[in-house]
Amino acid sequence: MNTTTEILDSAAKRARLMSSPNSVVFSGDGEPQTPRAIIERLTALHEGGELHPDIYSLGGNVESFEHHMADELGKEAAIWMPTGTLANHLALRRHSRTKARVVLQEQSHIYQDAGDALTRLSGLSTIPLAAGKPYFTAEELQKAIVLSVTGRVLNSIGAVSIESPVRRQAGQVVPWGELDSVTKLCREAGIPVHLDGARLYMMSAATGIAIKKYTELFDSVYVSTWKYFGSPFGAILAGPREFIEGMYHDRRMFGGGLPSAYIATALAMNGQDGFIERFDESLAKAKTLFALINELPGVKIGQFEHGSNVFELQLDPPIDTDRFIDSLLDSGISIPWPSVEWPIPLMHVNSSILRQSDNEILEAFTTASSISRSLLEVTKTLRE
Ligand SMILES: Cc1ncc(COP(=O)(O)O)c(C=O)c1O
Repeated sequence: MNTTTEILDSAAKRARLMSSPNSVVFSGDGEPQTPRAIIERLTALHEGGELHPDIYSLGGNVESFEHHMADELGKEAAIWMPTGTLANHLALRRHSRTKARVVLQEQSHIYQDAGDALTRLSGLSTIPLAAGKPYFTAEELQKAIVLSVTGRVLNSIGAVSIESPVRRQAGQVVPWGELDSVTKLCREAGIPVHLDGARLYMMSAATGIAIKKYTELFDSVYVSTWKYFGSPFGAILAGPREFIEGMYHDRRMFGGGLPSAYIATALAMNGQDGFIERFDESLAKAKTLFALINELPGVKIGQFEHGSNVFELQLDPPIDTDRFIDSLLDSGISIPWPSVEWPIPLMHVNSSILRQSDNEILEAFTTASSISRSLLEVTKTLRE
């Protein structure tokens, strides 16, 4: 992007696209939820007699959603939490009991994005493994277990946490074989293991491995309800009955016993209906379409080795990335700009890809590739 005006124009186009029902938005895991869409969905739920208030997150829609999700995740019980951050925290706090150490990925949300909350709020020390990588192996975990019981002071591991897909690693998933051996080791060592499965439904669609096949490896699991179920906020934590029982006291102690949580849970339940089918269809469409787009010269939408719904948009010179992205905006397609975290644009597939036909999307990419190329060439000719 060359001038401030161009940047502002592009940002304004992008903002307009977010609320357009025909736009394909390659960011986020679910379709953008505009205020209007939320109001319309709530109105429909109200008219269908489906809104049932709770009292401080107990009863009403919250309780029915908890039962529904426990069932979906193959666990005895589930509790709604206002955020995934709190769901992870309370799960690891409860698993650890009097033990002090929690093993997790260095790239995980809990380690990188929660302000050391486990240490500051619950007196737990975190042992980060696999720096800069998506996952750690059973051998690496075994070493951490040995170190925890061979120091001068016995300091056993109270819980292990695994995030998959890993947001900071472009949504790559922990491969099944690794999940299987790490969780097996945890069981043998008697260490509870928690899944940060914020995007579990996406992982399952991408790998073809059933949700319950994943969750049965873990003692507890958290799933986000706002990233792709169309709720404005919220999370579900599921596990054995005695683990979840009484946890609403912890939720309230941490300031998370929200009144009127029925609004968020009713929307989550509604957004979950048919989600798997829509997402499977979206991912299948993306794969066919990306193969066609990859035939354009200099354009490659690359898949990660252990990828889920996130793809890299690689553009060779003389294609100008900013102009390419800007041209797509004119066709109602939004792709995030590269970020400091990940300098190549990442395209997140969600069900908004179903809003335009393969031909429309392919045509938009074809135009973007020739416009961004020819402008560069024109500039070059004028300079000569
Ligand atoms: C993998 C992962 N875990 C946990 C969270 C926290 O969820 P919340 O924003 O609901 O607190 C996020 C949110 O970005 C996440 O990506």
